[in-house]
Amino acid sequence: MPSVSAALVRRLTPADAPALRQLRLDALRETPEAFGSSYEEEHTLTLDDIRGWIAPANDSAMFGVFVQDALAGMVGVARQRKLKMRHKAHVWSMYVAPGQRGQGLGRLLMRAAIDHAAGMRGVRRVQLSVTANNDAAFNLYVTLGFEEYGHECEALCVNGVLYDELLMALPLAGK
Ligand SMILES: CC(C)(COP(=O)(O)OP(=O)(O)OC[C@H]1O[C@@H](n2cnc3c(N)ncnc32)[C@H](O)[C@@H]1OP(=O)(O)O)[C@@H](O)C(=O)NCCC(=O)NCCS
Repeated sequence: MPSVSAALVRRLTPADAPALRQLRLDALRETPEAFGSSYEEEHTLTLDDIRGWIAPANDSAMFGVFVQDALAGMVGVARQRKLKMRHKAHVWSMYVAPGQRGQGLGRLLMRAAIDHAAGMRGVRRVQLSVTANNDAAFNLYVTLGFEEYGHECEALCVNGVLYDELLMALPLAGK
């Protein structure tokens, strides 16, 4: 198994659209209960749609972790658009391919997302939601300083099964 030191985290660019599209669809199929969106809604997205996600933008970014030049994980971060909510950024699409888990790649991705949010002027908090039974993701977020601030009952219904979600936030120091 490759070590975390062999992994590269970088911001995704439109050239990464084919690999990102594949990984996103893999994620939605493999762990549908971990995401608000679904394979059924996204498998028709074109490469142009995906390029739109990763086109250069001041207020949003996606990061990928690469192992031997292959995209092994992804995360997105975006600040809220509304004037009254622009002090908050949201993390979405956090995923590491099953064969690459447990070696620190998820932590690298989350650190990149947090650092990016911290670099956005006026952003004071990073927020996310996580399915209540997702111990791996919850533990990762707690070790990075996220705190639970809410619990949404029956937040997702996936194939007829209801899942609660935990709402988590990381206050950015010095902001
Ligand atoms: C959650 C996920 C991104 C973690 O990625 P990863 O690369 O395996 O995580 P890391 O190796 O960086 O682990 C970082 C920390 O997460 C926690 N963690 C990771 N896997 C865990 C597991 N199976 N059980 C408990 N805690 C776990 C630990 O705190 C770990 O720190 P440690 O290694 O010092 O104990 C990955 O499991 C995943 O993609 N899951 C499916 C999709 C998903 O749940 N996305 C999150 C949506 S909110």
